[in-house]
Amino acid sequence: MLYIGIDLGTSAVKLLLMDGEGNIRNIVSKEYPLYFPHPGWSEQKPEDWYAQTMEGIKELIKDADKSQVAGISFGGQMHGLVILDKEDNVIRPAILWNDGRTFEECDYLNDVIGKEKLSEYTANISFTGFTAPKILWVKNKEPENFAKIEKIMLPKDYIAYKLTGVHCTDVSDASGMLIFDVKNRKWSKEMCDICGINESQLAKCYESYEAVGTVLPAIADELGIPHNVVVAAGAGDNAAAAVGTGTVGDNMCNISLGTSGTIFISSKNFGVDKYNALHSFAHADGKYHLMGCMLSAASCNKWWMDEIIRTKDYPAEQKGIEKLGENHVYFLPYLMGERSPHNNPNARATFIGMTMDTTREDMTQAVLEGVAFALRDSLEVAKSLGIKLERTKICGGGAKSPLWKKMVANILNLKVDVIESEEGPALGGAMLAAVACGEYKSVEEVAAKIVKIVDTVEPDPELVAKYDERYAQFKEIYPACKPVFDIITK
Ligand code: XUL
Repeated sequence: MLYIGIDLGTSAVKLLLMDGEGNIRNIVSKEYPLYFPHPGWSEQKPEDWYAQTMEGIKELIKDADKSQVAGISFGGQMHGLVILDKEDNVIRPAILWNDGRTFEECDYLNDVIGKEKLSEYTANISFTGFTAPKILWVKNKEPENFAKIEKIMLPKDYIAYKLTGVHCTDVSDASGMLIFDVKNRKWSKEMCDICGINESQLAKCYESYEAVGTVLPAIADELGIPHNVVVAAGAGDNAAAAVGTGTVGDNMCNISLGTSGTIFISSKNFGVDKYNALHSFAHADGKYHLMGCMLSAASCNKWWMDEIIRTKDYPAEQKGIEKLGENHVYFLPYLMGERSPHNNPNARATFIGMTMDTTREDMTQAVLEGVAFALRDSLEVAKSLGIKLERTKICGGGAKSPLWKKMVANILNLKVDVIESEEGPALGGAMLAAVACGEYKSVEEVAAKIVKIVDTVEPDPELVAKYDERYAQFKEIYPACKPVFDIITK
């Protein structure tokens, strides 16, 4: 049988066709625009997601035996607010995970409702990218749109709805809404009241590997696939990536270097970070995870390469970088503000430490290192909670760079296991579909069967020591700059 994994990302939808043995038969990517209508705002059109997903599926299965397609599932960019009216029309563009407009609503939630209450109801506090503050923003700033809301959805759930006609979501993605009682895996009545919504406006919540329905006959006919193709709930992109890299069960780690950068630690037990710097979410394997999320990771390098030094040849720019652990230039990677661990939409990216002998290579190196240092900030929080990690998996576009993997291994002092395919969320989505169709009994079983480690980047103790010194310096820069960020973003 064949399974389609759909990774509804921020720059593109990536689609992957996998057979029952886990062989990847095809991969297709389709881009769509991202809008920044005001500084710090970030929006996309759900209609673009759907159109490109349909085009992508057609291209993906063009040369496959379509009668063998059995299941479809997802990894999707998390937290985005999609609102539909009673005719199922999209009311306004989706407000994305990296949008910083809701700082007033976050202050209300964190300071007036209070972090303790939020943490008790949802296991998390409010961050500007989360969905609940966005609902409040629409309520406060666009009351005419708020009045029209019939359904509240997350990005991938809009695609599942278009394919099946079922309003559904899954536990991992619902966790990032701040309306979900993560521990008990159900909607929080208290948070619905705080947001001024009814539970009936939210979708039915499934485990990630559960079937929510089958593809509507007209869509199946348009795609040329059978009428009984199962659609599984899927997962937020980070939980799906964790499935795709075999980060399931207890105390496993995955780092994703995508548009965002995340460090994802699976856990068989529910737990909350007492500092609320790390998110405490349900996992796609039926259990839980902690996660630190930085808003700009591989996107920092993309911005530096595409917009500033204007090249498409990323490997060529990294070729001349040899003096690891010796760079005197630092880069704070906060191009979209920052989530974990600083929770500051006013944070900004910064280069510091340049001198007349600073080279282009030093600057590129600083960008790559700055992202790895910022990931270490979240790792340090995890360590302070008593979590001990020796190794991590890695995925996402940035994981294609051997240099960046080496930096991650040495800056975080973790063995970095490289997986056969770094297509984390799309592969994870296909694996969840295979479980929903009964090809595998559980997410742990499919991960054990399919995920293969092909290489490990070992940290080198000398370099780890050098980077420890550099990290100690890096850590001083954000607190020193913070008051300036507040002034320049006023
Ligand atoms: C996770 C997060 C991002 C997006 C990126 O909390 O906001 O990783 O899911 O797509």
